[in-house]
Amino acid sequence: MKVRGAVRPPGDKSISHRALMLAALARGTSELAGLLTGEDVKSTARVLRQLGADISAIGDGTVTVRGSRLSSPASRLHCGNSGTTARLILGILAGQRFAATLTGDASLRRRPMRRVTEPLRTMGARIGDAQGDALPLTIRGGRLHALTYTTPVASAQVKSALLLAGLTGKVGVTIREPYRSRDHTERLLVHLGLDLRYENGAVSFRPSAVNVPAFQLSVPGDASSAAFLVAAAVLAEGGELLVENVGVNPTRTGFLVVLERMGAHVERVNLRDEGGEPVADLIARPAGAVLRGTEVTAAEVPTLVDEVPILAVLASRAAGETTFREVGELRVKESNRLELIAANLRAVGVDARALGNDLHVQGTNRPPRGRVDTARDHRLAMAFAVLGTIPGADIRLSERASVSISYPRFFADLRTIRETGKGRREA
Ligand code: S3P
Repeated sequence: MKVRGAVRPPGDKSISHRALMLAALARGTSELAGLLTGEDVKSTARVLRQLGADISAIGDGTVTVRGSRLSSPASRLHCGNSGTTARLILGILAGQRFAATLTGDASLRRRPMRRVTEPLRTMGARIGDAQGDALPLTIRGGRLHALTYTTPVASAQVKSALLLAGLTGKVGVTIREPYRSRDHTERLLVHLGLDLRYENGAVSFRPSAVNVPAFQLSVPGDASSAAFLVAAAVLAEGGELLVENVGVNPTRTGFLVVLERMGAHVERVNLRDEGGEPVADLIARPAGAVLRGTEVTAAEVPTLVDEVPILAVLASRAAGETTFREVGELRVKESNRLELIAANLRAVGVDARALGNDLHVQGTNRPPRGRVDTARDHRLAMAFAVLGTIPGADIRLSERASVSISYPRFFADLRTIRETGKGRREA
């Protein structure tokens, strides 16, 4: 296929969650433009409404949020498929004096929660977890203590949950992590004028007695969603694709760094700032036969953690082997991505293995053919759909509906960049 035209990825999922949560905690009316309309963000909005926030419909236009003091929910808080919703809301609830029970879909109920509940308990929250390390669980917040904590995993969800607990409990929080994870919460807190600093390799937040101010924000396009479009262009036989309005926060752009090492250069133009986040337009071109394997290091993983499926797909078309070091966290994402990436690549004729916590992919130029089990994981569906665009490919996905979690218009956009070359813009 050839690519042409311009396309705009949907709003950043991580920033959309955080913007809604901080707006719900603010005093006054906030206006959020460019929010992701995917199911995960709708889960956050639904849960915040149950807690008393007044949030307009999540659609393509500006979303208004009237914040208020949160109140005890009438029923269980259903977080759907969204780990970010569950973990960050736990942080927010740690500083509230009422009880609430969180649950989620079958995938979310399998995901580990102790990484968040343990430090929140240390801060003073009471959390009953009848199911062990998993949802459903009941949290009763209250008076919290300050926390200095080193997270065993580099997880922005853990870090953000603790920062939000500090905010609602009005106690200081200092966090160190083994490798730096995405810093959207930190940037947003700084953007709102709150006292967050970096000291001796740790992030320190000292919430003031002053309330969070209401704010206006334009959410940049999601770098993780953009990665699928960029990959489609890199694998194309000709043309050029402009991917507009992409967040290029360095804690999220490991995908572009690794791509460069693999021999595919993506140009960044029109660099600007949006609410404390760097944003650019990306120009992606086919890599032709130059794509080569590489090693992705453990330190790089947090900067591309959601891009491993699409990078593994690109690696399957590169010369030689690509190794992803220390990607064990992928076992506890929306699916067991580590095993499913390897198994699905094998199912379409690629030599791929998960060995311990490493993933090995051997490139080939045989056309990929076979059936892919997405396990209803949006990023697996999108990654293998991109693999299906190369000449001679015959990939059958077990389902496609899961893309609505993070990129509802994915298949329409993929068609558009191939067929007419006229990019479709989000309203
Ligand atoms: C996210 C952080 C990442 C990422 C997830 C969204 C966030 O998870 O995989 O899709 O918004 O904080 P971890 O921080 O747990 O690795």
